[in-house]
Amino acid sequence: MSTQELSRTKSAIDKSTASLALEFGHAWDYAPAPEAKDHVRIQPRYDLFVGGRWTAPKSGKYFLTTSPSTEESLAEVAEASAEDVDLAVKAARTAYEKYWAKMRPAERAKYIFRIARAIQEKARELAIVESMDGGKPIKESRDVDIPLAAAHFFYHAGWADKLDYAFHGRKVRPLGVAGQIIPWNFPLLMAAWKIAPALACGNTVVLKPAETTPLTALLLAHIIEEAELPPGVVNIVTGAGPTGAALVAHPDVNKIAFTGSTEVGKKIQKAIAGSRKRLTLELGGKAANVIFGDAPLDQAVEGIVNGIYFNQGHVCCAGSRLLVEESVHDVVVKKLKDRLQNLRLGDPLDKNTDVGAINSKMQLEKIKELVAAGEHEGATRYSAPCALPDKGYWFPPTFFTGAAQASRIAREEIFGPVLTVMTFRTPDEAVEKANNTMYGLSAGIWTDKGAKIFWMAGKLKAGVIWGNTYNKFDPTSPFGGYKESGFGREGGRHGLSAYVEVV
Ligand code: NAI
Ligand code: MG
Repeated sequence: MSTQELSRTKSAIDKSTASLALEFGHAWDYAPAPEAKDHVRIQPRYDLFVGGRWTAPKSGKYFLTTSPSTEESLAEVAEASAEDVDLAVKAARTAYEKYWAKMRPAERAKYIFRIARAIQEKARELAIVESMDGGKPIKESRDVDIPLAAAHFFYHAGWADKLDYAFHGRKVRPLGVAGQIIPWNFPLLMAAWKIAPALACGNTVVLKPAETTPLTALLLAHIIEEAELPPGVVNIVTGAGPTGAALVAHPDVNKIAFTGSTEVGKKIQKAIAGSRKRLTLELGGKAANVIFGDAPLDQAVEGIVNGIYFNQGHVCCAGSRLLVEESVHDVVVKKLKDRLQNLRLGDPLDKNTDVGAINSKMQLEKIKELVAAGEHEGATRYSAPCALPDKGYWFPPTFFTGAAQASRIAREEIFGPVLTVMTFRTPDEAVEKANNTMYGLSAGIWTDKGAKIFWMAGKLKAGVIWGNTYNKFDPTSPFGGYKESGFGREGGRHGLSAYVEVV
């Protein structure tokens, strides 16, 4: 074939491929597969769950919770004032003294088991509501959040009557009333992380969900009602920062457990200084994912994508800094770019969606501000060329290359689908750069050599370190931070100590 003929044939093939693509879309364009939501019942209005009853807030005030993917209002939710919080704490105190602390541990366990079973039974509904209220893809809420929430209750039910064996033979007693404040990134899962160990150890609870995602905690209140827990053992008070602050300030709360921003964590620490309240804080992160040149690169890139883009980067342990050995930088960046082009962004209820909506307008503004700072500071930005829906809050999967260690995008928690790629030459340099942060929640190491993983894990100042994987959770495994990522552990035997006094 002559060169001319060859180029004619090639252009004919190109044309027919293009028309095929036009006709059928790209190979990865799936037909819409939305999860049906007709069986999901969201009440038009939710009151406070206090002392086993649904009670209107004293202030008479309600606020709206909306869907960040459509901007539709989903329900009105009560705004608890300090007076409402006081009633909830009183109900928790009464329940503690009258029922929960006195109950045989094996009996307590049965109630916790019941909650776990009910979460499993209602898993579908819970997953859908989680995705509607918070914007995360149904794949995540269905396969991660809800099963793990059930697993936390199952696991802690098992501990309730074995606490005498958990602390090297030393006896323990409960603390009393636990005030628990949770964020919007894993609404039901964080409620489970907080409530399950507290109950297993014999404490009663006042829980405040985040103001943008209160619905699954309220569905959990219904489950707790159906499980016939004694009234007041679990109380759910909705509201924003001031409601949380009132709970922190209440004199009859024995323990505060908080997950959220480092800024609010510090405020809480100040507010309870000098009191006898116990405290655990799980705050922000700026985790490093470290790829060595000998790592299985495709697997590593998939782990990186899971670590920062699924869930829109709304994960405190998100692998938001990528440290890649210089020799493989270009090939990793190329693979990452290819993978980003195939991520599907859109309707959180669609089973094919990888990247959902940003949780709130405020969070979207924060992401945009930091991304603009990254561009301003001279890093090179790449964003996936995906179309963003007209309604709702969205940000395309994005990464930066050529960012300086000192730049804002390398230091500050972005809490969005934005990755900052940097390089290193030696293992020591990788350790130094990974630890060069005020946070210390998690890290990932990708290499062919197990010995390198162990060597590096011993040197990283991070509470959780994953080797050749990322974002894996299990109720048996303690989770928590170093430095400004907070203190205390949740999950596993270690997590129990946050809810008992060793006597
Ligand atoms: P936030 O820390 O304000 O909210 C977390 C929870 O604390 C919510 O329930 C909120 O109502 C409550 N709260 C707020 N002010 C309070 C106060 N003074 N006293 C007691 N409770 C209070 O987090 P926000 O504003 O929603 O997000 C800001 C940033 O925080 C994010 O951009 C992200 O960087 C980080 N964040 C980290 C999370 C984590 O899992 N570590 C979760 C959510 C946010
Ligand atoms: Mg919402």
